[in-house]
Amino acid sequence: MLLEKIYNERGWDFRNYKRSSVMRRVSKRLMLLDIPSYGEYSGLLDRDPSEYDRLFANLTIKVSEFFREPEVFDRLCDAIKENWRDKVLKVWCCGCGYGEEAYSIAMLLAECLSLEAISNTKIFATDIDPEALDAARKALYRDESLKNVRPDVLDKYFTRTDGLYKVKYGIRNLVKFGVLDIVRSPSISGVEVLFCRNLFIYFNKPLQAQVFEKLDYSLKPGGLLVLGKAEVIPPLFAHKYAPVGTRLSTFRKRT
Ligand SMILES: C[S@@+](CC[C@H](N)C(=O)[O-])C[C@H]1O[C@@H](n2cnc3c(N)ncnc32)[C@H](O)[C@@H]1O
Repeated sequence: MLLEKIYNERGWDFRNYKRSSVMRRVSKRLMLLDIPSYGEYSGLLDRDPSEYDRLFANLTIKVSEFFREPEVFDRLCDAIKENWRDKVLKVWCCGCGYGEEAYSIAMLLAECLSLEAISNTKIFATDIDPEALDAARKALYRDESLKNVRPDVLDKYFTRTDGLYKVKYGIRNLVKFGVLDIVRSPSISGVEVLFCRNLFIYFNKPLQAQVFEKLDYSLKPGGLLVLGKAEVIPPLFAHKYAPVGTRLSTFRKRT
């Protein structure tokens, strides 16, 4: 009922997100506001529509960090150097939250691609949450999100301002942020490298398959797909992808 209401009022479609995780997050709001039932919470949403935004911020979990699972980035760097050193790439980071992952990809590509290739490469970083994207564009981060960043990378690509780290312009300029709800919007086409990590885990199985069809459409044959370490390719599509390396989170789309 509540998820229908959110969909009808705001167009955010959480109806096929994993029920347990969604309800846990809604319950957190109820507890915080000391509201005993979903019915009363629904009444509050009518009286104070700004609560929709607070609920939305809770339902879209943004936990991330720079170079999350660093070995994924090492493997990607090897794969790129091997095949695409001089190639201008189209890269998509889907579910980018506050931008840590998109900027990590940009730093990695700046190291792996030739100067000419990187100058024309673009990383499209998208998320359902416009406020997260505003923060991502500011590119200011606390120490906690930088624990996987090597000291030389920190020196090269960040400046220190007011106790925070800011990503330098050259890297920021490689990333183009935009709102894209992967459940409802059309996807991006002609992509060579596609990151979609730690987003599928929030979807139920039918929605995973529906969204994967969009990702599969986006990725060119021979392109690289990076999922989160707890995520798998839906069975219907598995034959189209070959693992890169031994850990099953990076895949190459078969040609
Ligand atoms: C846990 S974060 C993952 C961040 C990053 N990819 C990583 O793995 O570190 C999940 C992100 O997916 C976004 N998200 C949730 N539902 C979405 C949807 N339908 N379309 C696009 N992004 C969505 C959330 O707003 C959040 O920023």
